[in-house]
Amino acid sequence: MSSSASAVESDREQVLTTTPGPILVLGAPGSGKGTQAKELIKHWGIPHISTGDLLRANRDRGTDLGKIADGLMKRGELVPDSLVNEMVAARLKEPDTARGYILDGFPRTLGQASWLDGRLATQKGSLPVVAVSIHVDYNQLLRRITGRRTCPACGAIYNIYLNPPKKDGLCDVDGTTLVHRADDTEEAFKERMRSYGALTEPVIEHYRGLGRFAEVDGDGPIAAIAAGIVAAVERLRQ
Ligand code: AP5
Ligand code: MG
Repeated sequence: MSSSASAVESDREQVLTTTPGPILVLGAPGSGKGTQAKELIKHWGIPHISTGDLLRANRDRGTDLGKIADGLMKRGELVPDSLVNEMVAARLKEPDTARGYILDGFPRTLGQASWLDGRLATQKGSLPVVAVSIHVDYNQLLRRITGRRTCPACGAIYNIYLNPPKKDGLCDVDGTTLVHRADDTEEAFKERMRSYGALTEPVIEHYRGLGRFAEVDGDGPIAAIAAGIVAAVERLRQ
């Protein structure tokens, strides 16, 4: 192994031996939570838990939760706290969460935040959460949402205007036909923004007030935003 390759390997080992703990990625619809979480898991080697993805997987499997969530999600309304908390509780019991995890899109109500804070407070040895909020302005969000396409096989995220796949309509990773999410219409986006303003912005204020909080500008190159999030989390963990 060359000396620079071994330095990279040793940096990676260093990162993987630290404990990142629970990291919350918050932000409006289209702010880049999923895109950033996919970058961050490469850095820390911890799982990405997106409540939106978990609900869509339930919908696709036709579970009772998926049937309830489907109509609410299409309209851009939130799924009730009790159902989402239960789903998250089950996911957090998986052993891959032991060193930490990235929660994307959860909590998004004060009820969910208080459930999560309570759960972590009673868990021996658990680090407190670090929260990062990604800020992007309204017109940019709308463009991101209407242009988004995702791969139903591997979850890769594209944008026909801003981050297009190499071949029109096909995933760069596995060639699967890309899909347009049912809630990525302008009408559903407006409802999602209403829920965000009324129910999720207070969650951001809650974590800002607790400290261990950073806001990052989400308008720029994906890798540069990810580097800013990593630096902020590492600073807040010191
Ligand atoms: P969810 O799936 O979480 O949707 P969301 O919060 O509306 O966020 P999005 O996934 O739309 O956006 P994102 O921030 O992940 O952006 P992305 O990285 O894809 O939730 C969906 C629904 O499920 C909710 O409406 C609700 O009904 C239900 N739900 C989920 N969680 C819930 C909860 N906790 N409680 C109750 N209900 C819940 O990027 C967007 C686009 O921008 C992409 O095209 C991407 O390529 C592009 N892009 C990203 N970053 C950049 C960049 N830096 N430059 C250029 N383009 C970029
Ligand atoms: Mg997402």
